[in-house]
Amino acid sequence: MNDSSNSLTTRREFIKTTGRLAAASALAGVALPHVHAAGSELIQLALVGCGGRGTGAAADALNTKGGPIKLVAMADVFGDRLSGSYESIKRAHAAKVEVPEDRKFIGFDAYKKAMDCLKPGDIAIFATPLAFRWVHFGYAVEKGLHVFMEKPLTADGPTSRRLLKLAEEASAKNLKAAVGLMSRHSRAFQELFQRLQDGEIGDLILLRGYRMHGPLGSAFSTKWPGNPSELLWQIQRFHSFLWAGGGCFSDFYIHHVDHLCWMKNAWPVKAQALGGRHYRQSPEGSPYVDQNFDSYAVEYTFADGAKMTMDGRCTDGCNPIYSSYAHGSKGMAIVAKAGDCELPSSTFKGQNPQRSNMLWTSKVEPDQRNPYENEWNDLMDAIRNDKPYNEVKRGVEASLVTSMGRMAAHTGQEITFDDMLNCPHEFAPGLDQLGMDSPAPLRAAADGKYPVPMPGITKKQEY
Ligand SMILES: NC(=O)c1ccc[n+]([C@@H]2O[C@H](COP(=O)([O-])OP(=O)(O)OC[C@H]3O[C@@H](n4cnc5c(N)ncnc54)[C@H](O)[C@@H]3O)[C@@H](O)[C@H]2O)c1
Repeated sequence: MNDSSNSLTTRREFIKTTGRLAAASALAGVALPHVHAAGSELIQLALVGCGGRGTGAAADALNTKGGPIKLVAMADVFGDRLSGSYESIKRAHAAKVEVPEDRKFIGFDAYKKAMDCLKPGDIAIFATPLAFRWVHFGYAVEKGLHVFMEKPLTADGPTSRRLLKLAEEASAKNLKAAVGLMSRHSRAFQELFQRLQDGEIGDLILLRGYRMHGPLGSAFSTKWPGNPSELLWQIQRFHSFLWAGGGCFSDFYIHHVDHLCWMKNAWPVKAQALGGRHYRQSPEGSPYVDQNFDSYAVEYTFADGAKMTMDGRCTDGCNPIYSSYAHGSKGMAIVAKAGDCELPSSTFKGQNPQRSNMLWTSKVEPDQRNPYENEWNDLMDAIRNDKPYNEVKRGVEASLVTSMGRMAAHTGQEITFDDMLNCPHEFAPGLDQLGMDSPAPLRAAADGKYPVPMPGITKKQEY
């Protein structure tokens, strides 16, 4: 994989993924500009998007041990989210938080003001819904900042292409860029990947991911209540809107899609899928107006004909499954025992995961068990020791493959990797120009409802 290639639109370039950082090999031996922050220098952080994950990511950053680190600026579009996050981080890390009132910024341009508080070589954390990634990353690259940004990175073709270009620019400036697909930093998964590549269970022919539980997050929405603005309300309920968060499919299922493709060491070339909207009103009887299906069943195909399935469901009262598996010609593996990447991972001879068939089960040192901490330790190591580190291309590819499954379900068509990458439908153009009074990218019809996917009817784009 060559991170600096210009031919972004060819499939061949994308269908191979490696277990190591793509940029590391691509950049080996190339002289790169030095961007500050060797060993003992103070690294400053700006947090953009002060919700649940942003607060957690900032805390994980402050927990790293390699050298002095401080949170110095925060940005959000809601004042109460920012102050709640500030209080929580300050409580746990008082000595490492120095964010006076004039470094707390609210609004759609708050990201710029927060990053303006940093110097080249500091780190910006992006934990807003995905829609804003390209806007925020673009400014960070311009300013010479390292970044940590949450998954998913994109939900459509045009922003994926934009982000891939920015990833190249970041590498050219020797900026380190981490993506919150934390499974990649699971020490158990890293060992499993190596075992699968070494042929422990033969040729991989089927991978299976399941995330099935009750309604979660903001995936189901009843009509906009009129306050806050329709724009801010959609941002608050980003799991409901494809422009904001890629819907529940992108947000919830990307972890399994990504880590199973990693195990296969390839990206799939196409997807076909089923899905449907079964229960479309709240228990109180109000119609749901979000753009999600309740259930999805995607079948991906790799270039060698191997398959990967991803089943997702947000429905109470059904069999809950949340785990992932790989099947080879000689045996099988439990990849995520539960959740996105809970331990242990195991391999078995044959296709029955019973104890007597077990070949290997992961054993990870206690201080390496948390992938959210590992991803920060790995990033800080790269920054402080100036190692090439750019997970963005891989993160965009994982986002594209996830979107490809979602689009296949939403349109009822077979969608290839190239179709997704080159799809011209940008869900929310002009997000870099957004202001507090801007109209929402998606406007409700008179009945309060939004356009929804209609497989077999709306075929070229998702709504
Ligand atoms: N890796 C993981 O396991 C994991 C877990 C949870 C969430 N996430 C990801 O983190 C991201 C945030 O999720 P969350 O659960 O924290 O959501 P959240 O709603 O709790 O937080 C998002 C925050 O971003 C703010 N925001 C939105 N648009 C903004 C903008 N343009 N500028 C500044 N601030 C803005 C919101 O007001 C909110 O405070 C999502 O992409 C999600 O997929 C990852």
